[in-house]
Amino acid sequence: CGIVGVVGNDNTTKILLNGLEKLEYRGYDSAGIYVNNEKGKDFLVKETGKISDLEKEVSDDVLGDIGIGHTRWATHGEPSVANAHPHYSSDNRFYLVHNGVITNYADLKAKYLSDVTFVSQTDTEVAVQLVDYFAVKDGMETEAAFRKALSLIEGSYAFAMIDKEEPDRIFVAKNKSPLLIGLGKGFNVICSDAFAMLDSTHDFVEIHDGEVVILKKDSVNISTLDGKKVTRDSYRVELDASDISKGTYDTFMLKEIDEQPAVMRKISSHYFDGKKINVDQKMLKDVADADRLYIVAAGTSYHAALVGKDIFENLADVPVDVELASEFGYHMPKLSKKPFFIFLSQSGETADSRQVLVKVNELGFHSLTMTNVPNSTLSREATYTMELLAGPEIAVASTKAYTANIAVEAVLAKAMGELKGVKAAKDLDLQGQLALAANAIQTIVDEKDKFNKIADDYLTGKNDAFYIGRGIDYALSLEAALKLKEISYIHSEGFAAGELKHGTISLIEKDTPVFAYINDGIGAAHTRGNIQEVTARGAHVLVIASKKYAEKGDQVIIPEINEMISPIVSVVPAQLIAYYASLARGNNVDQPRNLAKSVTVE
Ligand code: G6P
Repeated sequence: CGIVGVVGNDNTTKILLNGLEKLEYRGYDSAGIYVNNEKGKDFLVKETGKISDLEKEVSDDVLGDIGIGHTRWATHGEPSVANAHPHYSSDNRFYLVHNGVITNYADLKAKYLSDVTFVSQTDTEVAVQLVDYFAVKDGMETEAAFRKALSLIEGSYAFAMIDKEEPDRIFVAKNKSPLLIGLGKGFNVICSDAFAMLDSTHDFVEIHDGEVVILKKDSVNISTLDGKKVTRDSYRVELDASDISKGTYDTFMLKEIDEQPAVMRKISSHYFDGKKINVDQKMLKDVADADRLYIVAAGTSYHAALVGKDIFENLADVPVDVELASEFGYHMPKLSKKPFFIFLSQSGETADSRQVLVKVNELGFHSLTMTNVPNSTLSREATYTMELLAGPEIAVASTKAYTANIAVEAVLAKAMGELKGVKAAKDLDLQGQLALAANAIQTIVDEKDKFNKIADDYLTGKNDAFYIGRGIDYALSLEAALKLKEISYIHSEGFAAGELKHGTISLIEKDTPVFAYINDGIGAAHTRGNIQEVTARGAHVLVIASKKYAEKGDQVIIPEINEMISPIVSVVPAQLIAYYASLARGNNVDQPRNLAKSVTVE
């Protein structure tokens, strides 16, 4: 979910709606705003669906100089107007937006609020009713009531609340969910992500877990939950609002696919200075000293981690464990003696990954976050950060962050290997390879019609598809299949080519689409055999093979590139096939159903 707030600006409604549009990548099943003007008039507008649906409901007289807004990714309760935020107390005095999950909401409800009639099924409504309970029943000042409620609430939250009786301030609190204060001229704002407010300001102040902020138009009052004053400098976000526009493209996804060659060049020029690799030397020593790397991630970043395992083991000569964040935090294996943790996260905000980092910090281990968003939570809280440099990624289905992540993993692995004197690292001309990758991706994206036709020929009317491969191609197949299912809603599985025959091959029937990858030299001959097995059972097979291993009849040829990093290039056909399959089905490519780009709940 995403939240925004404004205090002290006549254009509050516009700023809120504009901010919510920018945060739509965090969820888009319903949205709402609460706006209050000095004359004591206030407005609550909520709607299911996208921000554009909400905008239609906001009439011209919804004006004010203080307000809060929310775009939702449902956790508790279906997407409906009643469950959309802002939520309010029964006496219509307090209005509140929330990102996160209150885990003890049922207990709080039973203990304090058994007389209250609830209008939604959300955990959030409990929070706002609880503030009202302490303020009205116990006669507390609003700030005291807010703090009292916070002291009882367990779970994750970013809250912004307005008291209709004190409409000159926003009550703000944060625990585990992201939240920033933005400093305007004569006004202030809050947002889940700086993106949302770049039209209003470039100066932001972090809020840490367990802090409370009283935000007025001319003051930012930060304190800990137990009342200790906190002072913190602001920082500047140097992004341009135009970095986050579609330009001439119809969708962000296609724009981002097309940006990949430029991203490869950017990574190469940023991280290399002639032959010298530009990375933090302290970090390098730290990570090179580890006896095992634990790479922790979710979703597409997890798939980039699987590719990274091979790269680190080969170039840096270190064993690597790749872990799903949502599993690892709660079922930690026995760790090695000198572990080092690497977090991969496009957004730097994924709650599943963050909870692991919190534990890693508690255990006193060092860590590195590779992320596309500097100043994100996972970047701030890890010992070190390496930037992906992919530029803002807006489409929910991740493309350029995946390829950037693999490239940045390769940079680090090579630097580690060189430091340790590993021959494979010294021998690899990574700059040259990244230049080759950029060119190779370019030749693929220049052939869009071809992939449009493949999507049409192979996937029209189909409900199931498979991507198969071995070794590096297996890791890649998982990502290729994820792209397809995320945006086309065709059920697809990425499978180890050799494992298919041990059960799953029973799903192959006449014309089942099977996309087979052959970039991995060691597995190539055996994968050819597996292709025969599915062909014999009627599958409609498309072979995506690197030039080196291609055979007559293979439909897609990947230009020559170092095998270890080949997924940087060979994922691109899968991105395009998914894109065109989704378009053909009339889906919203950038905002697929049920998903959010940044999931800040566990
Ligand atoms: C969400 C997105 C995925 C993404 C995953 C991890 O589920 O829908 O596309 O891969 O989060 O996100 P991160 O920002 O940590 O890479």
